[in-house]
This record gives sequence, structure tokens and C-alpha cells, in this order.
Amino acid sequence: MKLKKLAKVAVLAAAGLMVASSLTACSSSGDRGGSSSDSKLKKGDLIGISMPTKADQRWNVDGANLVKELKDAGFKTKLAYANNSTSQQSTDINNLVSAGAKAVVVASVDGTAVGPAVKQAEDSGATVIAYDRLIMNTESVDYYVTFQLERTGILEANTIIDKLDLKNGGGKTTPYNIALFAGSDDDNNAPYFFKGAWDLLKPYFESGQLVDPSGLVTKDTTNADWKKISVHAWDQNQAQKQMDAVMTKLGDQPLAAVLSPYDAISLGVMKSIKSARPDMTPSIAFDAKNPTNKSAWPVITGQDGMDIAITNIYYGAQAQTVFKDVSLLAKQTTSILKDIADGKSPKSTDDPMNNGNKDVPTWLMESVELVKNPTGEQKDLHFVADTGFITEEQYQKDIAAPIIE
Ligand code: BGC
Repeated sequence: MKLKKLAKVAVLAAAGLMVASSLTACSSSGDRGGSSSDSKLKKGDLIGISMPTKADQRWNVDGANLVKELKDAGFKTKLAYANNSTSQQSTDINNLVSAGAKAVVVASVDGTAVGPAVKQAEDSGATVIAYDRLIMNTESVDYYVTFQLERTGILEANTIIDKLDLKNGGGKTTPYNIALFAGSDDDNNAPYFFKGAWDLLKPYFESGQLVDPSGLVTKDTTNADWKKISVHAWDQNQAQKQMDAVMTKLGDQPLAAVLSPYDAISLGVMKSIKSARPDMTPSIAFDAKNPTNKSAWPVITGQDGMDIAITNIYYGAQAQTVFKDVSLLAKQTTSILKDIADGKSPKSTDDPMNNGNKDVPTWLMESVELVKNPTGEQKDLHFVADTGFITEEQYQKDIAAPIIE
């Protein structure tokens, strides 16, 4: 009991340190704000928050965290969810500004489609913060807070490389089958996630150790080809359909791994595998020492630390998830807005990101990999509860839940 409490304190302290260092970076200058609209923001003003959808677990946590942090800092808040609709999000942003928002924090449904709405927001004097997803091809975005993007793909690919023992020649005798997925075609994060993974996996396609039975990915695939395997709107059902096509091509061969950039995509993938190949079972994990076992369950990756992923990792159906402690994003967003209200210019030590029109000042947080048994820098599943992403009670429910059918 005591130990658990201590661990929690240590995690919170580490998170606090990260934010504290960013805060120092932000407050280091007494310049006027970066955007012409910044100077109008005051403590007590209304901040509009536009989130993409309630359907994904993380955006609910993001919205709640932002409301809490901003209120604690003395701002008023209004939170809107766009039901993954680009037109709804534009309406939401317009409504937030009409309600008096002096800043809007936007996690876009579609990074380009949201351009005109944020332009209107900025024209009416609001500061625009792109939250998690960059707003593309417009001047009307002042700041960007997100996680190190390629890191997601790097962590996922390394799990696959380790479990398939690729560095020691796994797949040299008979190539290992792997299916690959990328995120939504309208999300600027998706190509970065893919690049992080593909830079590491491509050499094993070149050496012939990995092969994609669908033929969509080959040794000639480049990072620019990610849309060939993207899953529009990060949609689970769409992922399942795409995986059905891979399973048809796979036939009765073994499947070693699936690169999935998001837990709900992983779930669609698992449902497809279960219906196409009922002989495959999570109780027999893919084993590089016995790679021809057709009943072995593939190494499947994910992202976000969703409840469903916690359950599936606990029971061996998913190998890992890349977990983003989104409270760090809410704290960083709040720190930017506080700086502006205090007449300071928010400053980041990270490189800005270009959105096609301008270099947007950017703050990058660090994600962690969650696995069942911690080794090296990987962390145990309980970390989601330690960070407050889910409650202890929910965590206990997740690991007690029957494996997903
Ligand atoms: C986020 C991921 C999330 C995905 C689907 C991306 O933009 O960065 O954390 O898994 O959207 O919601």
C-alpha cells in the first residue's frame, strides 16, 4: 500500500518536473506575446475548447483536464465536442468565439478543414492553440502543444523488432508476415507516427525478413506512401475491413506482427483475425523460436492506453500501447495562456513545426510505452492509474475484464 503511494508520488513528481521545466522556458522572457491577438487575453477571460469526439477515450480525459487546469488558473471555460465532423467543429469554434472566447484550444478533426474557422477566431481577436494535432496551411495558429510524434512509431517498431528477434536474424529462413496500418489521412500526426516506425522496419523488408502479405507495403515503400495504409478517422470498423483484406491474402499462413498506431485500430485488427482465423489464439503468443506455429497470435501494437488495450495487454492479445499522459498537455496549454495573460511571451525550447504556411512555436511532451511486464525503459500497465488517466477502480476493472471477443 505504502509502496504504491510512493510510486504514485514519484510519477507525479516526475510529471511536475517536466511541466516545471517547460514553465521556466515559457516564463524566461518578458517580451510581448507572439500573436497580435495575445495581448488582449486577461485572467478571468473565457477560453473555448474544441475537441474532436467523445467516442475516443482520450479526448474525454483531455477535455476534462483542460477545464480543470484552466479553471484552477483563473480562466472561464467552455468545452465542445465535434462528433468527428469537420462542419460541426467549425460551428463549435464560431460559437465559442461568439460566446466571448479570447482564446481557442483546438484538437482538430481535420487539420486543414478547420483553417477557415480558426481564421475567423483570430480575426475576432482570439489566440489559437493547436492541441495535440497541428492545424495546417494557415497563418491563424499561434502555438502548438503535442507529444514527440515519431516516438510513437519508434516505440511500436522496437517492440516488434524485439519480439520477432529481427536483429538476430528472425525471418531469415522464412520471411515473417506483418500487416501495417497508419493513422487517419487528415491528421498531420499520422505520417510522423508512420515515419518513426517505418525508418526502423524498412531495413527488415529490404533484407527479406519481413513481408506484407497484402502487398501494400514492400521494400520500396517510402515514408511518403503512408496514405496507402491509412485508416480514415482512426475508425475501428474501417480498420477491421482493411484487416479483412489482409487476412484474405494471408490465407492459412502464420502472422507474426501487426503495426497498429492506435488502440481502437488494434481492436478492429483483432476482431478481423478472430473471425478469419479462429485457430489463432492470444494464449499462444508469437514465438521467434517457433515461428511456423500457425495458431500463434501476432505481436500487435497500439497507442493511447485505452481501457480496452489495458485489458488486452493484460491477457496477451496486445503487446504494448504508447501512453500519452495528456495531463501534461493541459498543463502546458494553461501555462501558455497564463504567460500571455501576464504579458509574457510564451517561449519553447523545442523546435517549431511548420504547418505549410508558418513555423508554429511548439512544445513536445514525452510518451511512455506500457507493457505487462516492465523491462528497461518500458513501464507497467499500472502507470495509467498512477498518472490519473484512469482511476484505480477502473484499472482493476480493466484487468479483471474477460478478454475481448
Ligand atoms: C493522437 C493519438 C490518437 C489518435 C486517434 C492522434 O492525433 O495523437 O493520440 O490515438 O489521434 O484519436
